[in-house]
Amino acid sequence: MTDAPNAVPAHGAVPKEVIVASHSGPLSGEVTVPGAKNSVLKLMAAALLADGTTVLRNVPVIADVDIMADLLVALGLHIDYLDPAPGEVGQRLHILNNRLITPFTPFELADRIRASVNVVGPLLSRFGEVTIALPGGDDFGGRPIDMHLRGLEAMGAVFVIEDNTVFGNCDRLHGADIVLEFPSVGATENILTAAVLADGVTTISNAAREPEIVDLCAFLSAMGARISGAGTSVITVTGVERDALVAAHHEVVTDRVQAATYMSAVAMCGGDVFVRRAVPAHMEMLLSRFADMGMTIIPDVEGIRVTCSDRLHSIDVATLPFPGVATDYKPLLVAMLSIADATGIVTENLYPGRFRYIEELRKLGADVTIDGHHAVVRGVEHLHSGVVSAPDIRAGAALVVAGLSAHGMTEIHDVHHIDRGYDDLVGRLAALGGVVSRVS
Ligand code: EPU
Repeated sequence: MTDAPNAVPAHGAVPKEVIVASHSGPLSGEVTVPGAKNSVLKLMAAALLADGTTVLRNVPVIADVDIMADLLVALGLHIDYLDPAPGEVGQRLHILNNRLITPFTPFELADRIRASVNVVGPLLSRFGEVTIALPGGDDFGGRPIDMHLRGLEAMGAVFVIEDNTVFGNCDRLHGADIVLEFPSVGATENILTAAVLADGVTTISNAAREPEIVDLCAFLSAMGARISGAGTSVITVTGVERDALVAAHHEVVTDRVQAATYMSAVAMCGGDVFVRRAVPAHMEMLLSRFADMGMTIIPDVEGIRVTCSDRLHSIDVATLPFPGVATDYKPLLVAMLSIADATGIVTENLYPGRFRYIEELRKLGADVTIDGHHAVVRGVEHLHSGVVSAPDIRAGAALVVAGLSAHGMTEIHDVHHIDRGYDDLVGRLAALGGVVSRVS
């Protein structure tokens, strides 16, 4: 293990690079999946809750981790990036909290990632104050934070919103019974990280059940929080004193969306790949739909083996909160269906605006039409070469996978979106035999 802190973030995305993908397959070998973006960013924010050094292992080397780190440094934390120990993947983060916190989040950082809003719960519960720009992130249409704010108001917080900025303050928060209208991931997380230091008991009904929520609860419990019901629809938190939590060491849960990305590459290019560290229980519904499409899925304690040799079958599929098929898998599914044997309908139930990449897939010959929140995908024999742009993280990755299956050479622009959430997507696909590279 190299334990010397790096002076600069390990991630070094070069702007204006292009990914070039050519017809590939069958893919073979093994790929190791790092920790989940949508967990690690929340764990980093939760480090505000305790003094001392938090250690996070299996942290993906992605731009959003760097942005969240910059944001937390601006609030007063100190962060070192370390190499992984043997058997780990990605990088390690050491986050030092000396309790010298300023609760003012810089606009330009908060505006760049949705997860910036995750500092609200910890800052209010521990320091009684927060100022933050309304969060940015991918543009899927409106992405309000009303459920976050209503939940925190029920615990005693007061908010004023002016000029796109949220000003929040409170005395010590108190426990409350909160029923979410929808099992929002972010609202569940912010209420959780506020409730751990509130006075009394908080219950969150209709809570999100995603594996990343369970990961956050495990981390908070390791810090000394008292939480039950993680992974169910009712989470109960008994608050502890404001300075009672201690910094913890934690291994970030595997990224199920990155895992699904390598599986979809096998689906589209054919092959036999072991996806190491993928957790079958975190992707059950997706794996069952992959099997319906004709893929062979072999779960294992260390990961998932996936093979595919024939043309995919078309299916109908709808996105839902966990344990349903996650919206983040959808661009991969649409790309897969675009070369399947009949017509499949994909229904989006979370983000009405999350169909913008379809115009790009059409440039590669996909036959997809949009009808309200349904995408009707008529399978074609194969996609062809083209020049496309990544509109967001997941759609960008789906375009790279589509490019590997397309006949000819595909250029994918705006790769900075992909770098926000994928740890060396190109290197990992190339190691499986994908003909893909990054060029300036
Ligand atoms: N919503 C509201 N009000 C709220 C909160 C959410 O109306 O106060 C709505 C949203 O507009 C959306 C739905 O509820 O229509 C679901 O939002 P949710 O709060 O569950 O999502 P999120 O926390 O904003 C996270 C991930 C997303 C992922 C969703 C759903 C992070 C940083 N983002 O977003 O991931 O799609 O959960 O699983 O964790 C990605 O990684 O590419 C990504 C977009």
